[in-house]
Amino acid sequence: MSARSDIRREVRDFYARAASSHCCAGEAPQKGVVARVAGYSTEELGPLPDDAVENSFGCGNPVAFAGLEGSETVVDLGAGAGIDLLLAARKVGPEGRVIGVDMTDEMISRARKNIAEAGLGNVEVRKGFIEDLPVETGSVDWVISNCVINLSPDKPKVFAEIARVLRPGGKISISDIVVEDLPECVRRDTALYASCVGGAISEPDYVSGLAEAGLVDVEVTDRLVYGTTEIEALMRSEVSDREGRSGAPRFGGDAGELAGKIWSARFTARKASG
Ligand SMILES: C[S@@+](CC[C@H](N)C(=O)[O-])C[C@H]1O[C@@H](n2cnc3c(N)ncnc32)[C@H](O)[C@@H]1O
Repeated sequence: MSARSDIRREVRDFYARAASSHCCAGEAPQKGVVARVAGYSTEELGPLPDDAVENSFGCGNPVAFAGLEGSETVVDLGAGAGIDLLLAARKVGPEGRVIGVDMTDEMISRARKNIAEAGLGNVEVRKGFIEDLPVETGSVDWVISNCVINLSPDKPKVFAEIARVLRPGGKISISDIVVEDLPECVRRDTALYASCVGGAISEPDYVSGLAEAGLVDVEVTDRLVYGTTEIEALMRSEVSDREGRSGAPRFGGDAGELAGKIWSARFTARKASG
């Protein structure tokens, strides 16, 4: 892949198109395909605006077992259309605060609409980069994120920013794609980068990245290894490409070749108490 700014632009354009496309029978972009295997329960999704669910692009459910409590402050890196913001907002209650950060205007607009529709007054979305969080140092109890850090061209900076914004004793719950032995053709493919595959790192590199940023008790608490079906869904990229083709496979090879080499992992860790 190319320079960091090019990667960022490609990723932003991809999610701008994702947020702007409309689901309609027949030619429906395959929104939420991956989210359906992400592990949200029907009870969790039921009260949420349909738009937040349909425009969810996560690969896990970082809020589910995180242990968020009333009055806590949570930051969601790459909040997208807001599914995890809404779930977190219910957990921390009216005394708590949830801040979503995203760089894509179209996603931010969707998230703000979904927050308004859900009638939640304790959530806000800030425009910014996860490599340079618009969040005060030492101010948050939780950092959550769902399928975003793989997209960053500067992951050490993201890990450092997570450590910066957490208060001493603050925790993380992050779901993300990790990979093993990806073929070079996948690494070089811009669309596969934006589909959360090409830029993903290995699980050991993720764990050491978080530890090098100063977090402790880094653990992988959950894994969902993708088989051919899930990989085909990822390869279909969920949104139409620049020429408007939706669901076109991006990877020239057989998705089965990648089975077992891509999985969603949930990482937990905390910032030492001081
Ligand atoms: C795969 S989607 C996940 C969205 C959401 N977390 C969910 O589960 O539905 C990735 C999101 O991260 C945002 N994003 C990607 N790279 C980013 C960066 N470097 N800084 C801020 N936002 C970023 C994109 O705009 C997009 O909304």
